[in-house]
Order: sequence, then C-alpha cells, then structure tokens
Amino acid sequence: MCILESNLRPSTVLIQAIEITKRFGELCAVDQVSLTVNCGEIVGLVGADGAGKTTTLRLICGALKLDAGQIRIGGYDIQQQTEEARAQIGYLPQRFSLYEELTVMENIRFFAEARGVQREEWLPRCLDILKFVGLAAFTERLAGKLSGGMKQKLGLAAALVHSPKVLLLDEPTTGVDPVTRQDFWQLIIRLAAQEQTAILVSTPYMDEASRCHRIHFMREGKIFIEGTPANLKASLSGSILEVRGEPLPLLRQLALEEPGVLNAQRFGDRLHLRVIAGKSTEISAALQKRAKQAGGKITALHWVEAQLEDVFIALLEDERRGRSHSR
Ligand SMILES: Nc1ncnc2c1ncn2[C@@H]1O[C@H](COP(=O)(O)OP(=O)(O)OP(=O)(O)O)[C@@H](O)[C@H]1O
Ligand SMILES: [Mg+2]
Repeated sequence: MCILESNLRPSTVLIQAIEITKRFGELCAVDQVSLTVNCGEIVGLVGADGAGKTTTLRLICGALKLDAGQIRIGGYDIQQQTEEARAQIGYLPQRFSLYEELTVMENIRFFAEARGVQREEWLPRCLDILKFVGLAAFTERLAGKLSGGMKQKLGLAAALVHSPKVLLLDEPTTGVDPVTRQDFWQLIIRLAAQEQTAILVSTPYMDEASRCHRIHFMREGKIFIEGTPANLKASLSGSILEVRGEPLPLLRQLALEEPGVLNAQRFGDRLHLRVIAGKSTEISAALQKRAKQAGGKITALHWVEAQLEDVFIALLEDERRGRSHSR
C-alpha cells in the first residue's frame, strides 16, 4: 500500500520554520523558534504544559498568523502560498473532534471530501488508510462508541486522507493506554520510514521523545536545546547513579546533602542521582554508610545510562542556577 506517492530525496527539507514568533497580548507563546524537518524524519517538540507546543504547530499549519518569522512547507510560504502549503499538511490537533453520530467510514469520507479527494478515489483510499491504522474491522461503528485510542487512530486516518507529505501530530497519545500508544508509534515510524513523511510530533513524554530522530526541548516559548537523543544524553555532565531502597524520601534527602551529588530525582521506586564524574566510588560508599546510620536501607546501587528525562531535569536545574546567579 502506498499512503504517499512521492519520490522525494531523503534530505529534502519539508518543514522549515525560521525565527517564528507569536504573542497573545503580553505573553510571548512562541519566541523566535527555528526548526526543520526533513522527509522521512520524526522530530519531537517536547515540553511541559504551556511550553508553546500547540501554538507552534498551529502556526506551522497556518491556523494562526505569525507575528514574526517565516514558515515554508515543501518550499511554499505558509503566509504567501497558503493553499499550496496547506495541501501538503496532515494535522492531528490536540483536541481532535470527530462526528460522534457518524460511523467511522462516514467520518473518514467527510474528511476526505473536505480535503478535496475525488469521489472515485476516496473509497479505496479510505479503506487503505483504515486498514493501515487498524480500524478496518470497525468501519460501521459509530465514532461516539470508539475507545479513546481508536478515536486517536481515526484522527490519524483523517489526517492522512489526502496523502500529506507533512504530518503534524499534537500530543497524539496523551490519555491513550500503553498498548495503543505502542501501536500508534509503530504507525508513525512506518509512515516516516516507508512513505518518507516528514513528521513533527509534540509530546510531554520522554519515552516518546527518545523515539524521535531529533528533539527540540521547549520551555516558555523558546527552544532551549535540540539534538538527537544520543547526542543529548552524551552531553549530560556527570554520571547517573541509580539507587533502590527505603524510605526513598530519606535516601533522597541524604543524597542531596552529599557533596558531589548534583541532583536527585525520583523515578517510580528508585532514585536517579546525577553525580560529578570521577567521584562515583566515593559517593556510593558514603551514601551506603549514611543511609545505615539514619535507619534507611539501600538495596541496590549501580551506574545506569542517562535517560532523556535526566537530561531534561539537568538542563532545567542548570537554567534555574544560572537565573539565580544572575539575580
Ligand atoms: N488563544 C490564546 N490566547 C491567549 N493565550 C494563549 C492562547 N493559546 C495559547 N495561549 C497561551 O500560550 C502559552 C502556550 O500555550 P500552548 O497551548 O501552545 O502550550 P502547550 O505546550 O501546547 O501546552 P499543553 O502541553 O498544555 O498542551 C500558554 O501560556 C497558553 O496559556
Ligand atoms: Mg498543547
């Protein structure tokens, strides 16, 4: 099956945002953001609530007007050649609205016709796409009766009806169960690899971020760091010491008091300590001793590879320290 008919070269830049800015009154929601996405590439826009992810995606798809900067989609300027640029884009908004009283097939037909897909084309194409997203067995089900994950898959199908070269996905898996999240990512990866679609996906989840080819971390409207997951992890200063034991709040407190521990973050039933490289043996011995004296217990302590979450937290800490020093 071919979702996208194209013979683009792998290095073709399909999304290019140059210093784009959007203000809402006093608030600068997107502040001089620049990014590119090549064909066949999955780029993640990662950040907490209110970081500016949705606003960035809405600017890129032309739903919002830029205050400054430039956006080119497949070479077309979104402000000057809006129709041509938009024709290249499939967009799954954060709050995708489908017609609950229509069936899956009727919904997809609606989106296909709204996108100008010809009558003779839409049926085979919609069937193809529904099969691709795993909804082929549910064509007659009312959309209102679909599970949350199935609704998101229908949203993805709707975004794909016109064979877009560019796909913008705004937190497509938020609120979706882990199995469906996995399915959804398999679809995204296949679209990029087989159809050479350029995909820009926003997510608050670090495990999803690590599946992207490149990531842009966003905060307060700005991109404060970008790179491949491997490069970002390699850039982390210090090493990560994973600690298991109890009680975790006490162990965390003791760790933070230990010279050489840069920060201590809880990950479920364990702690990740970022420690100054070269001090590792010293720190782990001191921590074992102090935990025992304080009535705590360390059951496991070993070095682990940094996760993206460690990188993200370290960056925020460094930024916070930088800010308080400059006051
Ligand atoms: N239409 C609007 N009018 C005024 N302020 C807005 C508007 N849209 C967004 N904002 C503000 O811009 C900032 C960025 O919002 P945005 O929705 O882009 O963040 P986000 O990263 O997508 O957050 P979330 O993870 O919660 O979806 C927020 O402070 C938000 O309140
Ligand atoms: Mg959002």
